[in-house]
Amino acid sequence: MPQTATPRLQASNLTRKFGPRAVVSDLSLTVAAGQVTCLLGPSGCGKSTTLRMIAGVETPDSGTIQIDGQIVCDATRHLPPEARGVGMMFQDFALFPHLTIAKNVAFGLHGDSAKKAARVRELLERVNLSGFDRKYPHELSGGEQQRVALARALAPRPRVMLMDEPFSGLDNRLRDGIRDTTLEVLKEEGAAVLLVTHEPEEALRMADEIALMRDGKIVQQGSPYNIYNAPADREAAAFFSDINVIKGVSKGALTDTPFGAFLTPGHADGGLVDIVIRPQHLKIDFDRAGRGPNPTSLEGTPARGVVSRARFLGHESLVDFTMEFDGSKLTAAVPGVFLPKIGTPLWLMIRRDRCFVFKA
Ligand SMILES: Nc1ncnc2c1ncn2[C@@H]1O[C@H](COP(=O)(O)OP(=O)(O)OP(=O)(O)O)[C@@H](O)[C@H]1O
Ligand SMILES: [Mg+2]
Repeated sequence: MPQTATPRLQASNLTRKFGPRAVVSDLSLTVAAGQVTCLLGPSGCGKSTTLRMIAGVETPDSGTIQIDGQIVCDATRHLPPEARGVGMMFQDFALFPHLTIAKNVAFGLHGDSAKKAARVRELLERVNLSGFDRKYPHELSGGEQQRVALARALAPRPRVMLMDEPFSGLDNRLRDGIRDTTLEVLKEEGAAVLLVTHEPEEALRMADEIALMRDGKIVQQGSPYNIYNAPADREAAAFFSDINVIKGVSKGALTDTPFGAFLTPGHADGGLVDIVIRPQHLKIDFDRAGRGPNPTSLEGTPARGVVSRARFLGHESLVDFTMEFDGSKLTAAVPGVFLPKIGTPLWLMIRRDRCFVFKA
């Protein structure tokens, strides 16, 4: 996608220390208008601190924040949150209990009352709550309240929308629907959205871009497809699913394994490598009295293992194997209802085009 000259939101080299410890360290990211970027990472990696600095409720020790090219925060300037044109929505979004839904949504609006009322009507319609304007928050379900909070945050047409785990208070089945509605409304409004989450599924579902964060730094930023299929390192791969790791030693840009030779260009002779594969990309074939499968060149050499555990998860089964070649464990995920018995010998093959090779 071509980058526009000026991103809606640009954070450059943000650092925030609490005592001696930098919880956000030299972090840079950009979000384009109309785009949803998910800041994804494990608990404590500095996601909320990053969001709070962009919102203006936390001050960075160093770095610059620009919105539409205008500096809202640097070494000398620090615009207050209300002067930044940002909307905020957090997990514990609190509606005002003594105000009607319409007044809640109108809260951040100023000026002409007919225009305000029209904007409130428009937003309540967008979040499918037309007719709720005179109700009070306690008369609404959790999901309905969440949509009111979204409408309230969007009412003043923020240029940047900051959302911190906004769906984590909702139960699972409600959440998917609300995520989709929210995404639709955000896209229609055209704000640049920075959404914090620690759930990979949520980021994959919501994001145009994922910024993967670890220990106060962004380790990789890209489309969900690229982050999932071309992870920057072993940990980045492991953040999205269980992984299998096959260890090897590179020699002449090749690494020999029981699954055949893998291309390992760029790894020094004698260098230890991890060949990483997700459980979904291990292929299982039947033993056929020890004759095994007849793999394509993509699938390499089959290796035999014995089922040590099999779990049925509904949409797929997870099958653990003890491999004959060295007793190591590998896990395969199989769609559908396949559930082999413990002790069954089966053959495994590795899709080479789905492997990631990292320096061990
Ligand atoms: N005001 C503060 N004083 C001291 N330490 C803080 C403060 N705020 C945050 N921290 C620490 O900074 C680190 C990052 O916190 P932050 O809230 O940004 O994490 P997070 O990525 O949002 O985590 P979670 O997913 O659990 O919400 C944590 O170790 C936290 O304890
Ligand atoms: Mg947080």
